[in-house]
Amino acid sequence: MGMLIKNGTVVNADGSKKADVLIEGEKIAQVAASIDAKDDEVVDASGLLIMPGGIDVHTHLDMPFGGTVSADDYTSGTQAAAIGGTTMLIDFALQSQGHTMREALNTWRKKSENKACIDFSLHMAVTDLGPGDSSQGLREMEEMVDEGITSFKLFMAYPGVLMIDDGLMFRVMQKAAKLNALCCIHAENGSAIDVVVAQMLAEGKTAPHYHALSRSPKAEAEATHRSIALAEMAGAAVYIVHLSNAYALDNLKFMQQRGARALAETCTQYLVLSREEQMPGKSWDEAKFVFTPPLREKWNQEPLWNALANGPLSVVSTDHCPFRFADQKSLGRDNFAKIPNGGPGVENRLQIIWHYGVNAGRITPEKFVEVCCTAPARIFGMEKQKGAIKAGLDADILLWDPNIEYTISAATQRMATDYNMFEGWKVRGNAAKVFSRGELVVDNATQPGKFLGATGRGRFVRREANAGGLA
Ligand code: URP
Ligand code: ZN
Ligand code: ZN
Repeated sequence: MGMLIKNGTVVNADGSKKADVLIEGEKIAQVAASIDAKDDEVVDASGLLIMPGGIDVHTHLDMPFGGTVSADDYTSGTQAAAIGGTTMLIDFALQSQGHTMREALNTWRKKSENKACIDFSLHMAVTDLGPGDSSQGLREMEEMVDEGITSFKLFMAYPGVLMIDDGLMFRVMQKAAKLNALCCIHAENGSAIDVVVAQMLAEGKTAPHYHALSRSPKAEAEATHRSIALAEMAGAAVYIVHLSNAYALDNLKFMQQRGARALAETCTQYLVLSREEQMPGKSWDEAKFVFTPPLREKWNQEPLWNALANGPLSVVSTDHCPFRFADQKSLGRDNFAKIPNGGPGVENRLQIIWHYGVNAGRITPEKFVEVCCTAPARIFGMEKQKGAIKAGLDADILLWDPNIEYTISAATQRMATDYNMFEGWKVRGNAAKVFSRGELVVDNATQPGKFLGATGRGRFVRREANAGGLA
């Protein structure tokens, strides 16, 4: 007996049509104009859109950072994702300097064991290639790719913690090019930013607002250009994470136009929040919006939306890195540099992008699916498993109600923070039902905000090395 979704409209990145979808076991068995139910359970999707489950390729669950640990573990983080319509995450394993990638992988696999509730994968953040000729680290990169970890994160920010120098970055890029792996870049000039931070603190500028002022868009633009140029020299494909402003976007476009194999994401927050509105420099409350890159001036939003609509930006992720306001953000009460960087967002990405993207006429429903589901699967080597409503793929399916009104609030969210960055925002469009590998795991229509599956049911997804689909 299968599950037959009838009377809905299938929305894929390449087009929409009225169609029925048959699920057998964990897979989509058939998509056709009309499928007759045999002994199948029928799900009525009248008035609903049938879309692939969201894929969020940038989250930080249970991650030690800024003197504390991000507030969502693999259970609350993946359940929150599912409740918002996301059925797959790619999280980051962080290698510590002086330790191996294997150790980092073991640590992160343990964090997810018996906890992950939807499917997930990992990027490996490289901070150290080992002693001498780097052969140990380079060999480990091969092992990672063999085990389905086909993207490597390189930080150009956070000196003394995660930042690596250009030489190490170049070595990793050269090896990634050989392995057909993708290099994901946090592009900010961490050394220059640290000088500005020290100067501001010396002048007594300690409030959260100065966090944003200390990290110039030019520092992001410079690092965006530098990392793509180094990748070109190394023959590697790169993916710039959390691109936040128009200057960085200009550099991305310039490099793309001259043929560089460079892709980029932006994140929900940069499309709808701004320095003027959320961080005017008036209160400690603004610590809720301390993340890196910081919020930018509002005029940057429209160029980012245009770049999503027209191609230079491929993906919207969240950079979900949640810290509680009451007892975690407070670590930086007297010094913005000590505020743990990051914000919660994994539960609200699809609502916000639908409402401010599709409802506002900035992107089509098909583009919504492309940037939230299909491009993430293609770029990160999972298109044979996920990212479309197509026979043979995993039945990660989102029944989306485009007409329902929903008010975002920390009081009703699953995320473990004591605030929501979009508190009180009213959106139109929300996940009605969510299937993960054929199992109904969320039914917001009848049991809003509840995860219905077993804790720990999520599986690690091995990904193909495909150089971001640009090979
Ligand atoms: O503020 C942020 N973005 N925290 C998470 C780490 C990172 O840089 O992505
Ligand atoms: Zn980052
Ligand atoms: Zn991040």
